[in-house]
Amino acid sequence: MTAKHPKHAAPGHSILPVIAERWSPYAFEPRPVERAKLLACLEAARWAASSYNEQPWTFILAERTDAAAFAKALDCLVEGNQAWAKNVGVLLLTVVSRTFVKNGKPNAACEHDVGLAAGNMVLQATALGLQGHQMIGIVAAKVRAAYQVPDGHDPLTAIALGYPAAVVAGTTDPLAQRDLAPRGRKPLTEIVLSTWGRPAL
Ligand SMILES: Cc1cc2nc3c(=O)[nH]c(=O)nc-3n(C[C@H](O)[C@H](O)[C@H](O)COP(=O)(O)O)c2cc1C
Repeated sequence: MTAKHPKHAAPGHSILPVIAERWSPYAFEPRPVERAKLLACLEAARWAASSYNEQPWTFILAERTDAAAFAKALDCLVEGNQAWAKNVGVLLLTVVSRTFVKNGKPNAACEHDVGLAAGNMVLQATALGLQGHQMIGIVAAKVRAAYQVPDGHDPLTAIALGYPAAVVAGTTDPLAQRDLAPRGRKPLTEIVLSTWGRPAL
């Protein structure tokens, strides 16, 4: 990681370097992720905060070192995501548990908490020289059938982990162009309010 990478954020205020250096590539080197790095990413997800410590997440793991398992997971992505995710080192399919184990009541925070775990995971990936690319573009029914996901649990997203590949400037490939495009965010004045419609800052 270099501080000058064009995809690194240009934050308006000082933030943790790993947050600035995380981004979602389309071009990945078609090579595996070392087991120790993968375990660290999963461990980071495991230690996410969650409402009532319910930990409503499950991750279905497919590493490219296991061609059959990898192809099975890849097949659960929408075609547009398969096109680039075929090169990644690891595919994870996230599954959310909708109700609390202790009382069966609905867990309104369950998707929020899976997102926190995914956030931890991709930041840990960045810290290890990898990048993650999260996907809502999965075919949930395929995941459910292929992995026998039970009632009360829903396939939610996929997460690709791997080594980003260099993209040559001037390319006409639309995905490569996305990898070269600058990253942007809404300003704080738009997202932090004192009351609806009035910036707090
Ligand atoms: C929950 C979630 C779902 C996403 N789904 C997709 C997806 O299906 N396909 C895709 O190419 N990118 C997907 N993305 C990546 C976003 O497009 C990307 O995070 C966003 O453009 C910001 O870019 P950055 O991550 O490089 O900062 C998803 C990201 C998140 C967090």
